[in-house]
Amino acid sequence: MSKEIVLTGIKPTGKVHLGNYIGAIKPALQLAGAGDCTSLYFIADYHGLTFIQDREEFNHLSYSIAGTWLALGLDPDRVIFYRQSDVPEIFELSWILACLTSKGLMNRAHAYKAIHEQNIQLGVDADTGVNMGLFTYPVLMAADILLFQSDKVPVGKDQIQHVEIARDIAEGFNRIYGDTFKLPDYMVDESTAVIPGLDGRKMSKSYNNTIPLFETPENLKKLISKIKTDSTPPQEPKDPDTSNIFLLYKEFAAPAQVQDFRNQYLSGISWGEAKQELFQVINAALEEPRKKYHELMAEPEQIDAILCEGARKARALAAPLLAQVKSRIGRYK
Ligand code: ADP
Ligand code: TRP
Repeated sequence: MSKEIVLTGIKPTGKVHLGNYIGAIKPALQLAGAGDCTSLYFIADYHGLTFIQDREEFNHLSYSIAGTWLALGLDPDRVIFYRQSDVPEIFELSWILACLTSKGLMNRAHAYKAIHEQNIQLGVDADTGVNMGLFTYPVLMAADILLFQSDKVPVGKDQIQHVEIARDIAEGFNRIYGDTFKLPDYMVDESTAVIPGLDGRKMSKSYNNTIPLFETPENLKKLISKIKTDSTPPQEPKDPDTSNIFLLYKEFAAPAQVQDFRNQYLSGISWGEAKQELFQVINAALEEPRKKYHELMAEPEQIDAILCEGARKARALAAPLLAQVKSRIGRYK
């Protein structure tokens, strides 16, 4: 039996923060290390182009997200790691799939629908701020997924609909041209905690409450000192299980350290001391990856070489299926 294919796309966004790391990167790296499947991870840079139209920013974000994953331990010898825009087969398939996708399906896709509805509420033209890339975003995502006969697609909850659309599109193609594409399933990790930000709400770029992953130690310390706490006096016992500081600590410390920290809570650690301990443990865990990240960013050619090699492997995997698709639609006798 052939190995299961696990594929996921990483959208280049702003500075990666602790929430992204704990909620998305860490579990994905664990999955990639687990072994018995073929894993494909790629930088979805042309999806990024739907909203980043500044040349410098586009480049910086693509390298930065690739550098972050590599620095955190993504092993390009175990995972096929590539940049979407280096694999032209995806865009060829995307067009073919677009021709079989009803516009109505795209009208219902959540990202477009949200902007559309907001525009109507604001009383402006319903399609203000919508480019065709954004509108057909799910078709490109379907091509990303279907081109590699993916079995499993690990995603955040907000992306479930897009994987379901990819399934619908695959079914539509198979109905017309015969069994061609595998129907992919999404994987959502329900157990991952929602990491709180500095103000206690979900850590998110949109709330401006993040702790970025690769800050200088001084900034990291400053940010940690801003984590919101309650007014329990310094010596009084504190509940570790309702504490955001404890929650973050658990993600970075060894089990014995966690137990020790729990005891300190119960015997009354001050918030100041707890933050100091949190800083120590996060800083120690991120010291090496931070160094590696800055080294990679200083020499983006290294990142390019890794991504190009990944694209070579991805294209070799994709070519036979694209040839089959072209043959089925009538391109060859
Ligand atoms: P942001 O909210 O900062 O814009 P994204 O929407 O780009 O973050 O999320 C990228 C990935 O990180 C997604 O898989 C998402 O589920 C995960 N993620 C983001 N914020 C958190 C958080 N606070 N806790 C856990 N996971 C998160
Ligand atoms: N749309 C995904 C996101 O916003 C990124 C993505 C692009 C993706 N193509 C994909 C995820 C294919 C999984 C599979 O996060």
